[in-house]
Amino acid sequence: MRPQLSRKNLVVFTGAGISAESGLQTFRGDGGLWEGHRVEDVATPEAWAKDPALVLEFYNVRRRNVRAAQPNAAHRALVDLESAYDVRIITQNVDDLHERAGSTHVLHLHGEILYARSTRESSHTAYLGDHDIALGDTCPLGSQLRPHIVWFGEQVPALDEAARIVSQADIFLCVGTSLEVYPANSLIFATPRRARRIVVNPEVPDLVPRDVCECIAKTACEGVPELVASLLLATTKL
Ligand code: APR
Repeated sequence: MRPQLSRKNLVVFTGAGISAESGLQTFRGDGGLWEGHRVEDVATPEAWAKDPALVLEFYNVRRRNVRAAQPNAAHRALVDLESAYDVRIITQNVDDLHERAGSTHVLHLHGEILYARSTRESSHTAYLGDHDIALGDTCPLGSQLRPHIVWFGEQVPALDEAARIVSQADIFLCVGTSLEVYPANSLIFATPRRARRIVVNPEVPDLVPRDVCECIAKTACEGVPELVASLLLATTKL
């Protein structure tokens, strides 16, 4: 009787790069979102106070792009891992491609673009479906709805939960993020020393501690399915 080995905890930390091959823009680098917009104009509480219509339109356009996008091979490969590992996805992305691919445990650090939030009670959120948010759209308390996004300068409510999850990781995958944004980028240092750490990114960020990380300099759709195949094979050899 083979001993029932406990399933390893596998944490996947993702950024905009995993959705790039689904046609969604990343933020930095050529053609990135922050090339066409100033963060100060569309992604801060000050921007919202100054010109809420501009902010709403920025997110309405991105939301339509998310609805038109499909999960890619990398999103789908991460779902396959759930057959042999306890998988937790921690994403900086506000799209729903991990969920639509079938991942069952997804924690969004920077919010979810398909939801609106009350500007009076932040816990009041509403799924938008096919709707945009317009000026005059209000929550049940009568306050203007805003995108359910963590803007620059705002607290990251899910950070403690994310750090707790990462602290339990046996394997930590970091896919498609520049690691440019604090405090999300600090998670790569929150893994236990024993954890195996693997980075998938065609341009491995400077912040990556290369002495303790395996680096796969490939796109998500090239690198993640290959990596997942090897991780699944490893569980059949136990
Ligand atoms: N596959 C994998 N990685 C890719 C691909 C791809 N096809 N294309 C680009 N990348 C990598 C880039 O090399 C880069 O390291 O994805 C990363 C994208 O970096 P950013 O655009 O900075 O996105 P991200 O790291 O998710 O940004 C973090 O910044 O603006 C805020 O809130 C926003 O959540 C976002 C945060």
